[in-house]
Amino acid sequence: MRTEDARPVRLKDYRPPDWLVETVELDVSLDPVATRVRAKLKLTPNPRAGAPAPVVLDGDELNLLALAIDGEPLTAERYTVTPDNLTIPQPPQRPFLLHIETVVDPSANTQLIGIYRSGNTYCTQCEAEGFRRITYFPDRPDVMAVYTTRIEADKTEAPVLLANGNLTASGDLADGRHFAVWHDPYPKPSYLFALVGGNLSSVDDRFVTLSGREVALRIYVEPGKEGRCAYAMDSLKRAMRWDEEVFGREYDLDLFMIVTVADFNMGAMENKGLNIFNDKYVLAGTETATDADFAHIEAIIAHEYFHNWTGNRITCRDWFQLCLKEGLTVFRDQEFSSDQRSRPVKRIADVRLLRAQQFTEDAGPLAHPVRPAVYNEINNFYTATVYEKGAEVVRMLNVLLGRQGFRRGMDLYFARHDGRAATVEDFIQCFADANERDLTQFMHWYSQAGTPEVTVTAAYDAKARALRLDVAQAVPPTPGQASKEPMVIPFVIGLIGRDGHDLPLVRDDGAEVERGVLVLTKPAERFTFSGIGQPPVLSLNRAFSAPVKVVANQSSADLRFLAARDSDPFNRWQAVQTLATSLLIDNVAALRGKRELRHDEGLIAALAAILADPALEPAFIGQALTMPGEADIARDIGHDVDPDAIFVARCELREAISERLHPALHDTYRRMSSREPYRPDAASAGRRALKNVCLDLLAATAESSAIALALHQYETADNMTDRMAALATLSLHERPERAEAIEDFYRRFETDPLVVDKWFSLQAMIPEPGTLARVRSLTAHPAFSFTNPNRLRALIGAFAHANQSQFNRADGAGHAFVADTVLALDQKNPQVAARLLSAFKSWRMLEATRRAHAEAALKRVAAREGLSRDVNDIVSRSLGA
Ligand code: BES
Ligand code: ZN
Repeated sequence: MRTEDARPVRLKDYRPPDWLVETVELDVSLDPVATRVRAKLKLTPNPRAGAPAPVVLDGDELNLLALAIDGEPLTAERYTVTPDNLTIPQPPQRPFLLHIETVVDPSANTQLIGIYRSGNTYCTQCEAEGFRRITYFPDRPDVMAVYTTRIEADKTEAPVLLANGNLTASGDLADGRHFAVWHDPYPKPSYLFALVGGNLSSVDDRFVTLSGREVALRIYVEPGKEGRCAYAMDSLKRAMRWDEEVFGREYDLDLFMIVTVADFNMGAMENKGLNIFNDKYVLAGTETATDADFAHIEAIIAHEYFHNWTGNRITCRDWFQLCLKEGLTVFRDQEFSSDQRSRPVKRIADVRLLRAQQFTEDAGPLAHPVRPAVYNEINNFYTATVYEKGAEVVRMLNVLLGRQGFRRGMDLYFARHDGRAATVEDFIQCFADANERDLTQFMHWYSQAGTPEVTVTAAYDAKARALRLDVAQAVPPTPGQASKEPMVIPFVIGLIGRDGHDLPLVRDDGAEVERGVLVLTKPAERFTFSGIGQPPVLSLNRAFSAPVKVVANQSSADLRFLAARDSDPFNRWQAVQTLATSLLIDNVAALRGKRELRHDEGLIAALAAILADPALEPAFIGQALTMPGEADIARDIGHDVDPDAIFVARCELREAISERLHPALHDTYRRMSSREPYRPDAASAGRRALKNVCLDLLAATAESSAIALALHQYETADNMTDRMAALATLSLHERPERAEAIEDFYRRFETDPLVVDKWFSLQAMIPEPGTLARVRSLTAHPAFSFTNPNRLRALIGAFAHANQSQFNRADGAGHAFVADTVLALDQKNPQVAARLLSAFKSWRMLEATRRAHAEAALKRVAAREGLSRDVNDIVSRSLGA
């Protein structure tokens, strides 16, 4: 295990590699405990590097068996070797072949990085620095090589042998073994290497590219699960077509494979031609997967496929450039889902996620820029900031340059950097060059952490028929960055007249504002609009054009007007959320001050109007009726947070909505119910979403007829979405029906681990004091496993990340339990342990008692000897050390 003593890596220290690798020939002989790897590397001095240099290769827990140069074994004095490094101080200063033989134990690999076993399947995970656990190698993304992989294995244990590229040979060997040879003609960094061996079945299909090439598509699963791949396969074909139509990108090999495994640290991995997926993001059936599962599968299949161009054909020069592939590819998968489903609903869902995860990260001790300048452990930088804010930064280019200008920049990027390892500067330069724009100031989005705050003050002058907007921006301090430069903020606005129509946006110099985009560049600036005959209502940051916090102090009447009339659906939703948030914040203060709670008739009226608006999509209405989450309210309060008070205030609001809108909710529930057979498409999913939001609100008062309705829905559902939603509603009410339904659910689905995960999560999220004991006892349940990341995240991850009141219990027992789990897990799987520990990312904003418990738990973790580099990095940054 890589332990804490490592030195930080800095962006400014980047140097090109001294040695390049032209070709890699791997010969891997699979064995459960002693897998032998022979590597033949064609090394060449890098013409871009300086003086003659030693060959220094990375390793991680490797055992060297043999070493030779051009076929000559190396004598011991010509190299030094440790498990994590191989150095040849005086190599020939010319191209040569380096032969390396190592042996690894896949069964003992509990980190799930390098070669490991998931069940009986052999598989690999190399991003970011896992290839060095297979052989000694310059394991950095700017070393791109052409790989040929020969795999051999016992034929009954592993009848299927896969690696990147195309199959070039295969056959039987002595002793019941067999082999396969794969060749990938595209040079790639080591992190995109993959191999798989196992007893797998495949579901096969084909895709014909726009230029008429036929591509074979294969999804490999455990035998018996073939019937659950149809949606993933369909999503893949839609993603391939979409990338051709929207970005002009075709697939480039004759074969595209996806392998599913049950033990996987992340969601999925984009290895060239051989994506490896957590089975949770492939397998889906009506009875076992929810609408949300189907949407995730579609998005993740697309995301990994899109990496073929944004990540694989053009890769990252170094890991500081991670957002170059991840932020851009998230943007691409968001756009794909928007085109396949409903754009406004997708935008609302994405902004909810961005605020819940990225804004929270940005406001705490783990805040970092989209492109960090330093890291201790790169695994810890696959964050909401790199991914979600990284995608927002690309989206802002789209807003600034317009659709065509954006496409010109992308086309130039593909043309200029194909086959190479690039930087964020390279990427941005393409947009600047293709549009003749100076994007120097825009680069601050990559280097400055923190969520900018934009303050808008409006003054209307009836005599001059003019509206003056004073707009100020500020970026708060974050760890290591006390003061900040102003950002370029594409701030899309609308001025709405009393009749609900947008007024023309004409500046006082006569220039019309294109697409409503005000480009903010200064700490404070003034915009004056002329020809405004009436005081307009302001619609700000439309479609969430920039990832900022807007402070505008709009009146309740204006917010209700926006909720009802804005032509921008995102801001209709936002107006409701703003009304609800200010009510909730007031009421949390009232509860803590033992004062009376406020009611907001305006909010209720806005919700009633949205419920009754026949022009709105059901999924949108469902989003509008979903109140801000407990963590969102906590973040908006920002300090001295009492999660119990937040929970109560939110319950009170849901009860008020339930009481006041009862008939409409009931009527909507009935109208959205369907007797049609289940289909996972967006329109029917939207109707189910609205129906289930109504059900949950109806039950918020714990009224018996609503509980009975939920129980009835649970029992009669013909799909997992409705069954799970009903169970989630029941789970919030401590009544005998709940225990019976929870029991029943397990009995129905006990043979399906992915469904049992839903059962673990649901119980871990119950906002009651009994939950911690329940979670503890579930860790002893036969279906639980400490070593399977999906089980662990389903139970303990859900408790830590998605149960605000119980993780942050006032007695500190929630914090202590999660800290204990992190310490135990760190010995086995540091990457997953570090992710779990990041649940403490908001600990500093808690009220004093809880804050003290969180600090004690973190300090206890920090004090442990021999922590992994992953956990040590998170705990020391969390404590601000
Ligand atoms: N390249 C990543 C997978 C990865 C992440 C490997 C961290 C190693 C370390 C992949 O493309 C990815 O981003 N996967 C996401 C899902 C995606 C839809 C955002 C994941 O695994 O969560
Ligand atoms: Zn990715």
